[in-house]
Amino acid sequence: MESFKLDRNLAHLAILQRIELTTPFQKRTRKLFGRYLFSKIFSKYMLDLDKISKDYYKIMYHEYLTIKKFMNSNQNILSIGAGIGGLEAIINNSFEDEKFTFIERDFVSKKIRYGWDNENSEAYNKLYLLRNFLLLNQVSSDKFTIVNFDKKDLPKDYFNIIISLYSLDFHYNFEIYKNYLCSVSDNKTTIIFDTIRPDFFKEIFEYVDIIKEDNETLHKSKRIACRKFKK
Ligand SMILES: C[S@@+](CC[C@H](N)C(=O)[O-])C[C@H]1O[C@@H](n2cnc3c(N)ncnc32)[C@H](O)[C@@H]1O
Repeated sequence: MESFKLDRNLAHLAILQRIELTTPFQKRTRKLFGRYLFSKIFSKYMLDLDKISKDYYKIMYHEYLTIKKFMNSNQNILSIGAGIGGLEAIINNSFEDEKFTFIERDFVSKKIRYGWDNENSEAYNKLYLLRNFLLLNQVSSDKFTIVNFDKKDLPKDYFNIIISLYSLDFHYNFEIYKNYLCSVSDNKTTIIFDTIRPDFFKEIFEYVDIIKEDNETLHKSKRIACRKFKK
């Protein structure tokens, strides 16, 4: 598989979740016509489906390489803010018997801003489309569960690995999930996410490793792999 299977609705969400998939033309339309028309019209109806399918795969495969060393077969994986789930589809095709739990949101903000949002009021996903993407890309329905963050009924399970790329502590405060993550992990669980304040997490976890640096992007974030909550 060197390309994902996407329909127009999925490609639309992929563009909203991964701004690097936006063409220069779409960027110009966003400047000229504003965020609302970009989010609703230009990012959906002016896209090259074949190109987005290949480029989204390339991006997610690159992300997969940054976390591959933490993966094993038979893991219970929690994905927070996975978007349409490209990373998880690649993990599923690379390892045996993984189980995925997705915590995501079920709406697309009218005007997407892509910044830090203390209120955590922004989202760009639809849960039925996340499900469609996984099924279309060979993740069978017995391998995954999708949970709506806003229903406030998060799964009380134990996870070997927790992944949140460009979501937790990138767009909204880690504090929102801190107690929950503490309750579904143990000292062996690895928690991976992107942040602009890696040093802050040395107060929270015993082990914090920087596994990727994004110096080119506006936010200059670091991807960290953390273990063992401090008491
Ligand atoms: C920038 S996208 C990143 C998507 C994906 N991780 C990727 O790397 O392509 C951020 C995602 O976080 C989701 N999100 C926002 N608030 C959330 C929350 N409280 N819990 C879980 N997901 C959330 C959004 O809906 C969106 O899909």
